[in-house]
Amino acid sequence: MDITKVSCVGAGLIGQGWATIFSSKGFEVTLQDINESILENAVKGVTSTLMFLEARSLLGKGEAAASLERIKTTTQIAEAVEHADYVQESVPDNYDAKKKVFKEMDEMSPDHTILASSASGLMMTEIQKVTTRPGRCVLVHPILPVHLIPLVEIVGGEETSSETVKTAQEFMKELGKTPVVLNREVPGYIINRLQAALLREAVDLVDKGVVSAEDLDKAFCMGIGLRDPVIGPLLRAHLAGSGVERFFRNYAQSYRYRWESMETWTTIPPSAVKAVVKGVSEMEVVRKKTMEEIQGWRDEMLVKLLKVVHGD
Ligand SMILES: NC(=O)c1ccc[n+]([C@@H]2O[C@H](COP(=O)([O-])OP(=O)(O)OC[C@H]3O[C@@H](n4cnc5c(N)ncnc54)[C@H](O)[C@@H]3O)[C@@H](O)[C@H]2O)c1
Repeated sequence: MDITKVSCVGAGLIGQGWATIFSSKGFEVTLQDINESILENAVKGVTSTLMFLEARSLLGKGEAAASLERIKTTTQIAEAVEHADYVQESVPDNYDAKKKVFKEMDEMSPDHTILASSASGLMMTEIQKVTTRPGRCVLVHPILPVHLIPLVEIVGGEETSSETVKTAQEFMKELGKTPVVLNREVPGYIINRLQAALLREAVDLVDKGVVSAEDLDKAFCMGIGLRDPVIGPLLRAHLAGSGVERFFRNYAQSYRYRWESMETWTTIPPSAVKAVVKGVSEMEVVRKKTMEEIQGWRDEMLVKLLKVVHGD
């Protein structure tokens, strides 16, 4: 299936990221949200990201302005989707919001249109139930910052057709993304399950006073983070044990002690929220920079890292 016209429904952080990607790859984009002031703010955000990309030579000269020309905005969902081949939905992450919007998109878009959701952990099997085209509904989950991180997770629901999954995968490749297709859906998909496990342990170590928030993040960034742009946890085990099977054999006991001593709570305890809020507010970077400055610094570092890791 050829995709030429795309729409972004929801123009928050993620919708802006998608609008940046689609427009900079030459697609006409309609960006929709519930009111004009949100859309004005979104266009400001997209403009500044496009200019950042052009300034770092990730877009050619004049491409930021040309990309912006390709973006139209509207508060009307019908206008956003009535001519679209592919719609990327990025409204708040709860079933009520997703189902409301999927029902509207289904009613107002052509039969062939693919309806993709940016949801971070919800199940497409549940969302697609409200549409008359469950086969053409799919999850395409990006990673923040969407304009820089290549990975997208593609997850079909029970009714999603393999053709839709394939089309979404090919489309993401065309956009320069790195798609990973899950064989079946699980809450949080891959990335957010890994992040959830890591976050619980990070929060717990700070809550128990084992380490400060500042040093926890430092240990991650200068240890795991620095090494893991090139190898993942499974290949790491393979290298660390001179063979993954040998790794599991040799480290069985010490891993059992670690796993046995780890928390398994599913709701963050109030004491942990308090400890982490205090710890993060005391971090040097948080004391010295605004949220926007930290985001800008993160993006600068990511551009350098991407050039090393991916050569682009
Ligand atoms: N923030 C992240 O790190 C991240 C990463 C990947 C995926 N996601 C997912 O992307 C989605 C959007 O997240 P976000 O961070 O951009 O949220 P956000 O709150 O920044 O933006 C959501 C936008 O949706 C708009 N909206 C609400 N109802 C709407 C409707 N009926 N029609 C059109 N627009 C509507 C809101 O006005 C808002 O601008 C969520 O499903 C989220 O889980 C978020």
